Amino acid sequence: MITFEVDAPKVALARHSFRAAGVDSVVELREGDGGAGLTQVAGPADLVFIDSEKSDYLRLLEPAISALRIGGCSSRTVSSPMSRSSWSSAPAHSPTRVSAGS
Ligand SMILES: C[S@@+](CC[C@H](N)C(=O)[O-])C[C@H]1O[C@@H](n2cnc3c(N)ncnc32)[C@H](O)[C@@H]1O
Repeated sequence: MITFEVDAPKVALARHSFRAAGVDSVVELREGDGGAGLTQVAGPADLVFIDSEKSDYLRLLEPAISALRIGGCSSRTVSSPMSRSSWSSAPAHSPTRVSAGS
């Protein structure tokens, strides 16, 4: 599993937490923007889960879709009316469109 975090103190906390939980060998934490980071991931992903600033979801959608394998899934948290409405304005993607990034 690969995860991205832009905030340095949270990166440190996450590294500590992964170690304490004994999952640091299976979780790779990359410091930096998830949108840019997704374009650097080698190999198609089965799942991209987005939990960033809600106002950033649409920007992150394209790199998320490009990182997915055909049949893969992108999900995100929906915790406010604003995020629900911004996500619902996202363009629909056909399986053909999804394959363009893999
Ligand atoms: C709502 S918190 C969720 C954190 C984590 N998923 C959790 O459940 O504890 C959002 C996190 O995304 C980080 N973040 C915001 N924009 C980001 C981006 N473009 N790339 C990577 N991380 C980002 C923030 O620093 C923050 O730690």
